[in-house]
Order: sequence, then structure tokens, then C-alpha cells
Amino acid sequence: MDFHHKTLWITGAASGMGKSVSLALAHYNTTLVLSDRDAEGLAVTAREAEKAGARVRVEVLDMSDSDAIFSTAQRVIDDGVIVNGLYHFAGISQRSLVTETPLENDRKIMEINFFGVVALTKALLPVMITNGGGQLMATSSLVGKFGFPYRSAYSASKHALHGFFESILAENYDKNIRVSLLIGGRIHTNISKFALNKEGHEYGKMDPGQAGGISPEKAARQIIKGLTRERLEIPVGGKELLILRIKRFFPLWHSKLVRKISPV
Ligand SMILES: NC(=O)c1ccc[n+]([C@@H]2O[C@H](COP(=O)([O-])OP(=O)(O)OC[C@H]3O[C@@H](n4cnc5c(N)ncnc54)[C@H](OP(=O)(O)O)[C@@H]3O)[C@@H](O)[C@H]2O)c1
Repeated sequence: MDFHHKTLWITGAASGMGKSVSLALAHYNTTLVLSDRDAEGLAVTAREAEKAGARVRVEVLDMSDSDAIFSTAQRVIDDGVIVNGLYHFAGISQRSLVTETPLENDRKIMEINFFGVVALTKALLPVMITNGGGQLMATSSLVGKFGFPYRSAYSASKHALHGFFESILAENYDKNIRVSLLIGGRIHTNISKFALNKEGHEYGKMDPGQAGGISPEKAARQIIKGLTRERLEIPVGGKELLILRIKRFFPLWHSKLVRKISPV
């Protein structure tokens, strides 16, 4: 993917990796459609992206509202915007055990992390195909590759993205659609603060594991490199990514290890 002069839609652009990737992409003379539910954060990202040289359109959009997703996407399409790349970052995490998590929390996490991503992708993909192709990226996680304590619904939502996006790639490779899945390790963002606890409220803490992660700016450099090379999977993080190799080559050791790693 050559980002120069492309139109790119980034969800979750108000903070964390969505923000750092938006600002990095702004340097390629891009047009950016930035969306998030956080209007204030979005306005800050938009100003910084414009300063860095991008043309910016802002869409306040809640990824748990599929009607709003389809109507927003249609408005953007009707305005003649041709999206060449759709990069999904919006998402929420979880800090609760399976046995204490009410089903409504599982549904809420799936709604944002999976169905919201599916809805926006379905709204834009046909136009992308008509216009000769494009690039899609969904943000998965290490726990999109294996289950992990206190992350049951989160892990399931990220696993689901792999099936959905790999299917898109298989169906549309010949139509010049490219797909990437970001495999996030530990990145120092607010993701743990806004994670759902067992009551369905914000967990509210910066986990030590999160705090020790790489910066969102470093993550953005890894992501841009992976997108440029159109990698199917883009591992993002530090030493913790080693666990992917442990799972692949030593599955028994891996399953024991997962029980021992601190989930916070
Ligand atoms: N940080 C990590 O270590 C890590 C590791 C693996 C994967 N990931 C994934 O990376 C992605 C980006 O997260 P991040 O780490 O950069 O954390 P972040 O700073 O919390 O970014 C997530 C963004 O998504 C937005 N969002 C949440 N729910 C939304 C909704 N219903 N509609 C629209 N926007 C919504 C958030 O807005 P608010 O500020 O309003 O909540 C926030 O701006 C997520 O999908 C996360 O699961 C992160």
C-alpha cells in the first residue's frame, strides 16, 4: 500500500493507536476520515492531523450503533468520498472472570469489537470493490490468537475478527482487496482504564502490564510498516510477542504459561 494521496478511514482515532496511526498517516498528504465516539478527543486528533498536512473529515460515531454506522458511511459515500483504506482501532477490553460476567457484558463487547467492525466494513467494502480495490485492517490482539484469563469476551471478539477478515480476503483477493490483522501485544494506552469490569462499568485502572507496553507512536511505526507491506498479520509490541512462537512450537508449554501470566 502506498498511502500518498489516499483517502483512509480510521476508527478509534481519538486516542491510543488510532490517534498515533492517524497522525503518522497525515504525513503522506492523505485525506483522513476520522471517527470515534469521543468528540473532544477526535477534534484534537483532527487539528494535529491537519497541521501535519492531511485533509480531515470528522465523524462522531458509536461503533455499538449499527444504524448510525450504516447511515454515516452512506453519507460519506454520497458526498463522493472514495475510501481506499479502512483501519479499525475502536474497541473496548474486559477485566472479569467468565463466572462473574453477565451475558449483557459479553454482548456489549461483541457489539463494539466485532459487529461494529463488521457493519462499517460491509458498508464500505462494495464501494471499495467498485472503485478497484482497497485495504482493510482490523485490530486483533495476542488474545485473538489464544484465550486468556479475565478476557473471555474480549478474546472471543478478537478471534471472531480473524474468521471474518480472512474470509473477506479469500472472497475478494482477485478484486484487489487486501486484509491485515493487527496482533497487539502490550501498548501503553488507556485500553485497560476503559475495560468493562463485572458490573459492566469502567475498570478505571492503568494495569502495570499496559503501562510497561511500547508507546502508541512506536506501535504506529510498526503498523505503518506492516500495512505498507500488506502483511496479513502485523504483530505490534515488544518482547511479549515471543508468546506467539511459544504457542506455535510448544503448545503444551504455552497452555501452562497462559495460566501463570498476570492478567493485569
Ligand atoms: N493497548 C493494547 O495493549 C492493545 C493490545 C491489543 C489490542 N488492542 C486493541 O487496539 C485497539 C485500540 O486500542 P488502544 O490500545 O489504542 O486503546 P484506546 O486508547 O482506549 O483506544 C480505543 C478507542 O476506541 C474508542 N471506542 C471505544 N468504544 C467505542 C465505541 N463504542 N464507538 C466508537 N469508538 C469507541 C475509544 O473511545 P473512548 O476514549 O471514548 O473510550 C478510544 O478512542 C482496540 O481495538 C484494542 O482492543 C490494544
